[in-house]
Order: sequence, then structure tokens, then C-alpha cells
Amino acid sequence: MSPREIYASRKRLIERELRRTVPRGSPRSLYPPIHYSLTAGGKRIRPVLVLLAAEAVGGNVNDALPASVAVELLHSFSLVHDDIMDNSNLRRGRPTVHTKWDPNVAILAGDALIGIAYRSLLKSPVERLPEIGRTFTEAVVEVCEGQAFDMEFERMDHVPIPRYVMMIAKKTGALIAASSRLGTLCGGGSPEEIASLTRFGEALGRAFQVQDDLLDITSSERELGKPVGADLIEGKKTFLLLTALRRAKGEDRTFLRTVVNRGGARRRDIPRVRRMYERLGVVREARRAVDDAIREARACLDGLRDSPAKGALFYLADMLGRRVS
Ligand code: IPE
Ligand code: IPE
Ligand code: MG
Ligand code: MG
Ligand code: MG
Repeated sequence: MSPREIYASRKRLIERELRRTVPRGSPRSLYPPIHYSLTAGGKRIRPVLVLLAAEAVGGNVNDALPASVAVELLHSFSLVHDDIMDNSNLRRGRPTVHTKWDPNVAILAGDALIGIAYRSLLKSPVERLPEIGRTFTEAVVEVCEGQAFDMEFERMDHVPIPRYVMMIAKKTGALIAASSRLGTLCGGGSPEEIASLTRFGEALGRAFQVQDDLLDITSSERELGKPVGADLIEGKKTFLLLTALRRAKGEDRTFLRTVVNRGGARRRDIPRVRRMYERLGVVREARRAVDDAIREARACLDGLRDSPAKGALFYLADMLGRRVS
């Protein structure tokens, strides 16, 4: 099987297991919104990573499936709540849960998703359950810390790049790193394998969020399934905005400072900011940051023995670096 076929086949396993794991029916204000958020065409990057990491260290897919599904459920929780916090009304080309239902429904759906995630995680191999439970729990807390920093940064007019890197390591990197680590744990990996696959996930997470920031301005709503320029309007301190603030001079600088002081851009300012990002080399710098992080991630796999799963991990890393949605 080619890496792409391996990815697709693991994804199918995850889809089936997700359907089995999530309850149906009543309460009607709980399970249908949860299904809606889970069946909207997510890429399933994190749960596939769990399975591939397990296989890459010689483990069995079935031992990693409960943790894999748990990770996707936690991811789904984070998106449902993130869309409330970010005032986003579109995700994966459809209305967000709090827009289609209401914020209370979305809050509760997110809460229940965490519970259902733990229910699944607890089916992981019992010998490693304490470490698996710790890894997952730390990721939950870190995602929340990262989301808190993300919101606090919106109201700050100066955020140094290292603080941004810390924030994305938590809001996005923590779950991707936990996915890689959980797979290795479920697959019975050695301490060295656990360490290098955790670092693989951390680097991948960094690449992933910078790419996400980049897509907010370079992609289209049709491709992205999310509104374009939403970060700018919300006043998010993205890699691009922070880099532009460092580079801009004169009129550009005055304009960007106005955007920051206002707490975000107006919709009609988006094309101007986009042109400025191109002109100041901000887009190029973001691409370079993504490529560097992907290269760093790939290097973490050096010590692993060659296997189809290792090939698929390389494929996954390259895919994330080039993703358009
Ligand atoms: C989106 O993650 C949230 C971020 C961390 C940027 P994905 O792009 O993996 O979301 P889906 O599940 O594939 O829609
Ligand atoms: C997502 O960050 C991080 C988490 C969901 C924890 P974003 O807010 O950038 O994700 P999108 O762009 O809405 O998918
Ligand atoms: Mg957000
Ligand atoms: Mg968001
Ligand atoms: Mg984003």
C-alpha cells in the first residue's frame, strides 16, 4: 500500500469506530449536534497520527484505536468551543454548532465530547493506562491554557514572537504532540521512541498552526470552509500580523497599529492587509516557518526503523505543510 492508501485506510477505521463510540438519539439537543460536528468532513489528522505512531513502533492498530478516537473527540470539543470564542459562524463549509443551534447547545455538546473522549480512552491497554491518561489530561489542560493566551493576546498591542510560539504550542501543538505520544504509548514504544515521536508531534503542531494562520489570508472561503480574514477581523495575533508589525514602516506601520488599536480589521481592509503581507515578505516568511518546522519534524523520525507506517508519517508531515484546507 502507498502512504496515501495507508492514510485512507486508517481514516476509514477511525470513521467506523467514531460511529460506534458516539451515542445517538435523545437528548435531541445533545447527540445530534455532536454528530453534526463529527461528520462534517474533518481531515482526521490527529487520530490517524495516533494509529501510525503505534504502528511505526511495531504496535497493533486495535490497541491504539480507543485513544485515536478519543483524540478526535477532544479535537471536536475544542473546535465547537473555539468557534464560540472566535465568533465564527462557518466551519468545514457549514454553519458552526452555536450558529445552527445556540451557544448553550454548543457548550454542552463540547462538554459531553470530553466525557465521551475519556470513555473511549479508558479502553486503551491497561498496562499503560496511567501514562496514557496523564498524557491525554495534560493535553486537555494545555489546550485550554493556549486558548486563554490566544484570547488574552487579542487585547495586547505587543506580543513577542516567542510568546506566540508558546501560545500555539499549547492551543494546537499540545494535542498533536499528545496524539503522536499516545500512539507510541499504545503501541508499546521504547522511552526513546516516545521522546522522538513526541518531538515529532510538537514540530508538526507548530507547522500546522502557522499554516492555519497563513490560510486565513491566502486561501478562499470555498477552499477553506471557514471565513477568510476572520483572524484579522477578530484581532488575533497571528504569525503574519506579528511579523508584519516587526517589518512595517511609515504608512504601513500606522495602518497596522490602527488595526491593532481598534481590536481588529474591518472587512473592507482585508485586501489591503493581504497586499501588504505579500509586499513585506510576510507570506514568504510564514511559508519558510512552516517548511522549517516540517523539516524538523521529519528529522525526529530518523531513529525509527523503516516501515510502511514510517513512510505514512512522512507523507502526513508533507501533507500538513502543503495543505490548503
Ligand atoms: C483546525 O484543525 C483547528 C486548528 C488547530 C487550527 P483541523 O484543520 O485539523 O480541522 P479539521 O478537523 O480537519 O476540520
Ligand atoms: C484553533 O485555533 C485551536 C483550537 C481549536 C484549540 P484557530 O482558532 O486558529 O482554529 P480555526 O482557524 O478556527 O480552525
Ligand atoms: Mg481560536
Ligand atoms: Mg477559530
Ligand atoms: Mg485559525
